[in-house]
Amino acid sequence: MKGISYLFFVAATICAVVGMAWGIHMSASGDHTLSPAHAHLNLIGWVSMAIFGIYYHVNPKASYGLLPKVHLGLALLGVVTIVPGIVMAINATGEALAKIGSVLSILSMILFLIIVLTKGRDTHA
Ligand code: HEM
Repeated sequence: MKGISYLFFVAATICAVVGMAWGIHMSASGDHTLSPAHAHLNLIGWVSMAIFGIYYHVNPKASYGLLPKVHLGLALLGVVTIVPGIVMAINATGEALAKIGSVLSILSMILFLIIVLTKGRDTHA
């Protein structure tokens, strides 16, 4: 694995380690208040980024050029804003960061859709 796939996997596994440690802390403390933020770190950070990484690995044609790099940037910015944003929203200290993170996350997925549609199709028999 190399290039953009590798970078997605580095980001994904960091999210998984932090997300799991957070889950263990929630279990140990008995305080599950922030479980939606933990869930989003694991699902957007670990699961989605790992899927992106696998996608670029099995479709190298789609992994070159500027768009996958912008995709990685948007996905990273999305996860590092939406997770603390959800924490703030749960703690009633503001919803702006969650809103920004949501928009960045959907923009990252829309860009991925564009990449899949324009560069993902194997036209060889
Ligand atoms: C060491 C690993 C993990 C531990 C110890 C852990 C622990 C927890 C705990 C204590 C809760 C709160 C449960 C409740 O209040 O009913 C929770 C919720 C949740 N976790 Fe994890 N978790 C781990 C890994 C993961 C992973 C890898 C994912 C997804 C890929 C995940 C997704 C979720 C989801 C979707 C919820 C429900 C959130 C909600 O209802 O708001 N967790 N987890």
